[in-house]
Amino acid sequence: MQRFRRLRSSENIRRLVRETRVDRSNLIYPIFIVEGENIKNPVDSMPGVFQYSIDRADEILKEISESKISGLMIFGIPSHKDELATGAYDDNGITQRAVRYIKNNYHDILVVADVCLCEYTSHGHCGVVHGDKILNDETLPLLSKMAVSLAKAGADIIAPSDMMDGRVAAIRQALDENGFIDTPIMAYSAKFASGYYSPFRDAAESAPCFGDRKTYQMDCANGREAVREIIDDINEGADIVMVKPALAYLDVIKEASRYDYPLAAYNVSGEYSMVKAAAQNGWIDEKRIVLENLTAIKRAGADIIITYHALDAAKWLEENV
Ligand code: PBG
Ligand code: ZN
Repeated sequence: MQRFRRLRSSENIRRLVRETRVDRSNLIYPIFIVEGENIKNPVDSMPGVFQYSIDRADEILKEISESKISGLMIFGIPSHKDELATGAYDDNGITQRAVRYIKNNYHDILVVADVCLCEYTSHGHCGVVHGDKILNDETLPLLSKMAVSLAKAGADIIAPSDMMDGRVAAIRQALDENGFIDTPIMAYSAKFASGYYSPFRDAAESAPCFGDRKTYQMDCANGREAVREIIDDINEGADIVMVKPALAYLDVIKEASRYDYPLAAYNVSGEYSMVKAAAQNGWIDEKRIVLENLTAIKRAGADIIITYHALDAAKWLEENV
């Protein structure tokens, strides 16, 4: 008989043989910045998450800076939206101003800028719309302009989340031509058309006003196609690849970890809200569940976890060391 229980007999010995550890440096916290003044709006479907105006953002930025996590992912919410998402690549747009503010005042926070048009388009799609079609090639120059504009504002990492084909190559070329050869691209490579994004669309005010995102985001049944997307993004010049969502796609994370590139997983809004709702009802122990979920994502092979739990997890991880 194998006595497996020998190595489980005390916390000290369990700690000694533990295979996976989540570290604060693995974590990135998403924030939502809105146009306007003196705003701190709760997002109803995401308890504990708020939209901030730049003048109120210190509250959350200080917390991020003190938490010792690696950085933040920024989502700007413009007050003006139009067909061509002009606010996305305006050097004085809400996201650009927010990035400049953060980089000027918080040198230790790594700023990852999500690059996508859906928060800035009047129709809420991630690309240029013609009739009922979302155009691929016509969207690439707009994404490239957005990426350059955010790099100019000071973004440390550019993270395209639109799922247009060829966008990593287009953005890499645009960054290079504008002197940003050292700005890495974190590509949302295997991004699935998921029901788990709906709380985010409240937070970012980016729900599509017709149709859905299934013609550009991946079908949730497709693991092998995810590998093709990942390989293609690496070939186009991605420095970091991503799988999104995380918990329902641990098999994809595991598969993606074989490509030996830094791998991020996005523990998305719906995954967060389900945990929060159950915890608020007293049905689960939030701390235990969050740390178990993050450990599972790491165990599957992710190096970087983008999560709305990051600040809570940072406190809990500190207590545990
Ligand atoms: C923008 C974007 C989305 C998310 C990240 N970037 C929404 C979407 O694709 O609809 C989702 C994040 C989350 O649910 O937490 N394209
Ligand atoms: Zn989008």
